[in-house]
Amino acid sequence: MHDDDTIAYFTERNSADVVIARMANAKNPRLAEVMRSMITHLHAVVKEVEPTYEEWEQAITFLTATGKMCDDKSQEWILLSDVLGVSMLVDAINTRRPSGATENTVLGPFHVDDVPERETGATISDDGKGEPLVVSGRVLDIDGKPIAGAVIDTWQASHDGFYDNQQPDVQPEHNLRGIFRTDAEGRFRYRTIKPCHYGIPDDGPVGKLLEGLNRGNVRPAHLHYIVRAPGYETVTTHIFVKGDPYLDQDAVFGVKESLIVDVDHHDDPAKAAALGVADPFWTVETDFVLTPAKSA
Ligand code: BEZ
Ligand code: FE
Repeated sequence: MHDDDTIAYFTERNSADVVIARMANAKNPRLAEVMRSMITHLHAVVKEVEPTYEEWEQAITFLTATGKMCDDKSQEWILLSDVLGVSMLVDAINTRRPSGATENTVLGPFHVDDVPERETGATISDDGKGEPLVVSGRVLDIDGKPIAGAVIDTWQASHDGFYDNQQPDVQPEHNLRGIFRTDAEGRFRYRTIKPCHYGIPDDGPVGKLLEGLNRGNVRPAHLHYIVRAPGYETVTTHIFVKGDPYLDQDAVFGVKESLIVDVDHHDDPAKAAALGVADPFWTVETDFVLTPAKSA
């Protein structure tokens, strides 16, 4: 700045201030606030890194390739946000909940709408591949009271680590997806297969970035959920299989301690028959605890 408070011409030293000063008449104050912060931090990064022209061109090429990988089926920008931990940070900021409430985690790109509702106890494994798993639990409010009629939307990868929409020629549509509703006691139960860890898509610039950083692309075994009930905040979450070797290396930082659950192995033909699964099988029990909707 000059002494008379008018802005100076752009220099290396005052770069961020000069750009920010141009926003003085912004019509949208929130946009101006966001861009002020963006410019401040972006210029600081450039000053710290001091990129060569070639490196800056590489960055532009990377961002261009990221945009080109986006269409209605693939979203490389979200994947980039995921592997940089930004998706989880935005999620954490927007889902602060009291202790005891189920924590949120990343939605991921594989959720689909318009999945069929299935009866309590039904299987979501339409191709029957994988080791049987029975999932059961309750949906509760923060005081432990059951929530009847809560809707549980679940999806997961196959036994070899692919979602049905990644393998439309291999898996039936809606394989390993289902919508369930809790009963009067807030209970739900369904059959599926035990998930295993899998690699997130690595065929684009994000995959190359992970490779360049010698970072893995694996997500530990998990089951996805969106749990909704009228009057309560919707929870988008996972449960993770305790003991999975990748729990501390999740490519998208989605693991939270409270979401890691025991998945128990059983060899008990009578119990298997009662639950409608082949023996041996696995079980997991998990409750979802919802908080009142912010507007409630
Ligand atoms: C998933 O768990 O489905 C997922 C989440 C983030 C990026 C890729 C996949
Ligand atoms: Fe997943």
